[in-house]
Amino acid sequence: MIKADILSEILDKVNDAVLVLDKDRNLLFANKSAVNLIKLKNFEFGKNIFNILSDLEIITLFNKIFEKAEDSFEIKFKDRVLNIRKYLLNDIYKILIISDITASVNYKTFKMELVGNLTHELKTPIALIMNYAETLLLNKDLNDEKKEQFVSNIFESAKRLNDLVSDIILLHKLENESGNFVVKVPVKIQDIVGELKLAYDNGDKSVLFEYDDVEVFINKTHFVSVLSNLIDNAIKYSNGKNVLVNIKKDKIKDFIIISVDDKGPVIPDDELGRIFERFYTRSKSRNKEKAGTGLGLSIVKHISALYNGFVHVYKNRYGGNCFEVILSEKK
Ligand SMILES: Nc1ncnc2c1ncn2[C@@H]1O[C@H](COP(=O)(O)OP(=O)(O)O)[C@@H](O)[C@H]1O
Ligand SMILES: [Mg+2]
Repeated sequence: MIKADILSEILDKVNDAVLVLDKDRNLLFANKSAVNLIKLKNFEFGKNIFNILSDLEIITLFNKIFEKAEDSFEIKFKDRVLNIRKYLLNDIYKILIISDITASVNYKTFKMELVGNLTHELKTPIALIMNYAETLLLNKDLNDEKKEQFVSNIFESAKRLNDLVSDIILLHKLENESGNFVVKVPVKIQDIVGELKLAYDNGDKSVLFEYDDVEVFINKTHFVSVLSNLIDNAIKYSNGKNVLVNIKKDKIKDFIIISVDDKGPVIPDDELGRIFERFYTRSKSRNKEKAGTGLGLSIVKHISALYNGFVHVYKNRYGGNCFEVILSEKK
């Protein structure tokens, strides 16, 4: 047989809170997790649990636990979700096992929401493609102008699907990346700027770059993704003729500071908290050129986090938005 003190030590290693009470609700045993969870201080075993507890919220929690007739149930406690199991041993001992299942409940909700969002986002362009293609198939006598318009609509929706799938795959990869990596080959900021200048050369807005001519230990795909998402947004959502991009390296701290300034209008305060959420997009026109996936800023946020950095947005002196990203190099 294992001795009681050894058994108690074993139970202290368990993450779940384990409590043993007698019929009169006197507390006979509590493992370490239980002591922490219900904030027991200077207590003696053998006393009624309600005399031992001092925190009002925990007293309420225990009232609820004892009221419930079921042997297993979930209960909300502050911002946590607890799973409670009750067992009766030898008709005398009441054993309570309390597990914090917040993380798994949150994960389930997150997965449900994600699948719901994905289904919704992917279904719209698929439905459009099917409708236009069906109309083309069933109406052979459509004039050329109409036919061209429908084919162009099909192309736009297919492009949107492609953008969505690429962004979703990238975001999925980023979410599974731990951040424990080093970048072996540095990139020259000048080379990246050169590529971006070419890409944005023929647009209706000028993208002006100011940068330190240095090499940085940031993965090239990540770097380009941050910049192009912020520049695309500034072009899409602002009115001015220019977008200003600044890429600097803080030589002392190995920080890279990227900022993208536009000339507004500024993002309303009540939207600021939401724009970094997955699938949040104000561009409602789903199959127009402006349509976004709503994933761009989530991608920027994830990449910043991989480099122990962050992204934030503030109102700039041109009456517009400045998105600033700080990254620390991975050497
Ligand atoms: N520079 C900007 N100016 C104004 N609004 C912006 C800017 N950048 C982002 N936003 C807002 O944030 C939302 C989310 O951006 P993002 O995640 O890139 O998704 P998307 O561009 O696909 O809509 C945009 O729909 C837009 O409402
Ligand atoms: Mg975007």
